[in-house]
Amino acid sequence: MKTNIAVFFGCRSVEHEVSIISAVQAMRAINRDKYDVTPVYVAKDGEMYTGDNLFEIENYRDLTELFKNAKRVTFIKEKDAVLMHYLDQKKFKKIPDVAIDLAFPVVHGTNCEDGTMAGYFEFLGLPYISCDIISAAVGMDKAVFKDVLKSAGLPVLDCIKFRAREYTLDKEKITTEIKEKIGFPLIVKPVNLGSSVGITKVNTQEKLDEAIRLGISFSDTILVEKAITSLREINCSVLGDSDECEASVCEEPFMNDEILSYEDKYMGGKNSGASKGMASLGRKIPADLPEDKSNEIRDLSCEIFKAIGASGVVRIDFLLDCDTGRVYANEINTIPGSLAFYLWEATGLKYTDMIDRLVEIAFRRQRNRDNLTFTIDTNILSGVSFGTKGAKGAKL
Ligand SMILES: Nc1ncnc2c1ncn2[C@@H]1O[C@H](COP(=O)(O)OP(=O)(O)O)[C@@H](O)[C@H]1O
Ligand SMILES: [Mg+2]
Repeated sequence: MKTNIAVFFGCRSVEHEVSIISAVQAMRAINRDKYDVTPVYVAKDGEMYTGDNLFEIENYRDLTELFKNAKRVTFIKEKDAVLMHYLDQKKFKKIPDVAIDLAFPVVHGTNCEDGTMAGYFEFLGLPYISCDIISAAVGMDKAVFKDVLKSAGLPVLDCIKFRAREYTLDKEKITTEIKEKIGFPLIVKPVNLGSSVGITKVNTQEKLDEAIRLGISFSDTILVEKAITSLREINCSVLGDSDECEASVCEEPFMNDEILSYEDKYMGGKNSGASKGMASLGRKIPADLPEDKSNEIRDLSCEIFKAIGASGVVRIDFLLDCDTGRVYANEINTIPGSLAFYLWEATGLKYTDMIDRLVEIAFRRQRNRDNLTFTIDTNILSGVSFGTKGAKGAKL
């Protein structure tokens, strides 16, 4: 019997559509001689669907039609197995449950990549590819990510972080702090989004409030940091786990504007209609860098990967300040667009083989976890009684 991989994608996230592209690419790359593939499309309302029509990207243009031809499912734990169970079944024509061996989340953004999906798999006891709950959550919050890196002595830009409520209550105080500690030009970002949504470069104080209000409309927590004016952006992917990982060649994405926009990332620039997800971004691979700089970034990438305890394949994005030559870790994408396969192909690893590696890493983690003790036998309950109705119960 082949290993049955359930590929999860979509979800309630601003990167829903990008995730569909990444997932369809991944499903096409999975070696079908070794694995069966079960697509699991998580619609924007959180309902899960499966069906053969989910393999084709064209079918997502008409969602009404897509849902008509797909089947709603859920997952249940039964003894040592995790089963995909079909909902809305006809009484006398039931489709049998399908055993799932491994979950492969190809999701981007909040409500999924942030550890939510990892938590779902952990709860089910289903082995899964990619970061565990804590590393995914650290990776999703740009401010927490900076804190973790800073405490590990890794280079990040200083920032000010504040909550929407704090800003509303004392706008003056926060504005003064931003002016004094950061200065202009600066960048305002929601802490937990992706795809440049809600991010603004601010050159003067008059524009600050508008930028913060935009950020607040997307996230409860905002981060403000210095804008690097003579900027090159360099990205690097890491594959492995905390015990053993390697970095890909670096890439340099090109931007049309002052900051890399949604259009730059997914539409191949403002005037191009077609999208192949992150794989369509204008970029130079390998990035045109002196060897020592590129080695510095690749080494840093592995250190960052280990510092947050990542697993699977990630992409770490750096800001290179051309005035000083200094490199800062900007963010980590724990499930990067297109799973950064294009960086691994440029490093000499085919997408199909990369997925093989991801499967091995996931099962290795599961084997290690199986050796851990999660419950203890105790007779603590034998002495506990709450007595008759109305009693307050035993003291613990
Ligand atoms: N400190 C900075 N200085 C200059 N440009 C920045 C800075 N931070 C982000 N940017 C620009 O904004 C873009 C989006 O910011 P980023 O932190 O990568 O968020 P996202 O998660 O949306 O990709 C970056 O790709 C870069 O072009
Ligand atoms: Mg980014």
